[in-house]
Amino acid sequence: MEYMGLGKTGEKIPVIGMGTWKLAGGKECIEALRRGTELGGNFIDTAEMYGTESTVALALKDGADAFVATKVSPNHLRHDEVIKACDRSLKALGIKTIDLYQIHWPNPSIPIRETISAMETLVAAGKIRHIGVSNFSREELAEAQSAAKRNEIVSNQIEYSVFERNPEKSLFAYCRKEKISIIAYSPLGQGLLYSQRSSGALEALAEIGRNHGKSAGQVALNWLIGKGNVLAIPKSGSRAHVEENMGSAGWRLSESEVAAVDRISQY
Ligand SMILES: NC(=O)c1ccc[n+]([C@@H]2O[C@H](COP(=O)([O-])OP(=O)(O)OC[C@H]3O[C@@H](n4cnc5c(N)ncnc54)[C@H](OP(=O)(O)O)[C@@H]3O)[C@@H](O)[C@H]2O)c1
Repeated sequence: MEYMGLGKTGEKIPVIGMGTWKLAGGKECIEALRRGTELGGNFIDTAEMYGTESTVALALKDGADAFVATKVSPNHLRHDEVIKACDRSLKALGIKTIDLYQIHWPNPSIPIRETISAMETLVAAGKIRHIGVSNFSREELAEAQSAAKRNEIVSNQIEYSVFERNPEKSLFAYCRKEKISIIAYSPLGQGLLYSQRSSGALEALAEIGRNHGKSAGQVALNWLIGKGNVLAIPKSGSRAHVEENMGSAGWRLSESEVAAVDRISQY
């Protein structure tokens, strides 16, 4: 596994973690999460909205040693609602401190100052360690940053994959300058990569992968993390898929291969 710094904190997190949206639960999923952490991908992302915090709790009990990231829903962004949502998540996760607490989506009808103030109260109380956001534009991110008085916004979780390259337009440069980590969600296009509709892209990625003994999916993930300051969180309930995903780190595509993926991803 390769590691990157989380925001300005100096704390190391892996470049490949694991998502849990639509994770079915059950023995195989728990085993897959534990296996991922054994392979160094010890970053697990969940959300109160996903209903998978209790599955993550079981994986932690099963021996998964992970940095736990969860999210507060956009309908819980009033000060007291944030505090209550965090308490519910701590209980569901069976832990005393959430490593990264993220605002799942911005809510324009609630002042960001109010939400950030609640998050800072949670840091002071030791209930969360770091504050992150998700689906924030560059402008929303800047607003959140100025609302934070005692803490930094360490990350922005956004959709980023060979199918979705919008963040490259301006968010990337801003996050790099501000030392805010990018957490790439749906890095396999929610499985679109493996569908019949993407067979052209899949074959082209597989062709590049043959130079490295890697699969098409591993090329797609390596291309993402190779952009720098990016942690990808593919979701899988299968041990074999998790093992494959973890093999996306620890090697690099050549410059010409990166350029070839850049071209594929405009399909
Ligand atoms: N912040 C947000 O608003 C937001 C939104 C969406 C997602 N997310 C986060 O990002 C995580 C990942 O995104 P995602 O779940 O949308 O989609 P994804 O990770 O891009 O794709 C997941 C799909 O790919 C399949 N897959 C994974 N690895 C595979 C492999 N090696 N070979 C073949 N198929 C594979 C999975 O099936 P199997 O389970 O069968 O392997 C699943 O169907 C989520 O779980 C969630 O934690 C956040």
